[in-house]
Amino acid sequence: MDKVFLINGPNLNLLGMREPEIYGKTSLSRIVKIVKGLARQKGVKLKSYQSNHEGRIIDRIQSLTNKGFKGLIINPGAYTHYSYAIRDAIKASGLKTVEIHLSDIEKREEFRKVSVIKDVCAAQIKGLGPEGYVKALEILLDS
Ligand code: DQA
Repeated sequence: MDKVFLINGPNLNLLGMREPEIYGKTSLSRIVKIVKGLARQKGVKLKSYQSNHEGRIIDRIQSLTNKGFKGLIINPGAYTHYSYAIRDAIKASGLKTVEIHLSDIEKREEFRKVSVIKDVCAAQIKGLGPEGYVKALEILLDS
């Protein structure tokens, strides 16, 4: 069975409670359940991890190398905008990676318009809310 990995970064554990006017009312556990269900339907096992810590996210990305994962979906939260270390880890992993954001980062504050991981990812999904995770999985499996 193919395997894919989903990583959510800082503050995404608060989804549903955190700024619902921006991020919606759906909890992270609900989103993960939905995406896992879709993955299962497609014959793929989805494993998921959330951390508020940059180093732990990097450790997890490193641990995926050569473990037979078909790809990685990642919402790095605010690390998106400045973590060259996460960018380097994605690149070093060699994994096909899809970047996902619930909100449309292009239409928010200036600092959010920059993604330092965008060009090491196969695609960037933004502004679709929880549905974006489903789309990210479809893109990841589409090859
Ligand atoms: C986010 C956008 C980031 O700018 C923010 O720091 C987040 C969530 C999103 O999913 O829209 O934590 O990645």
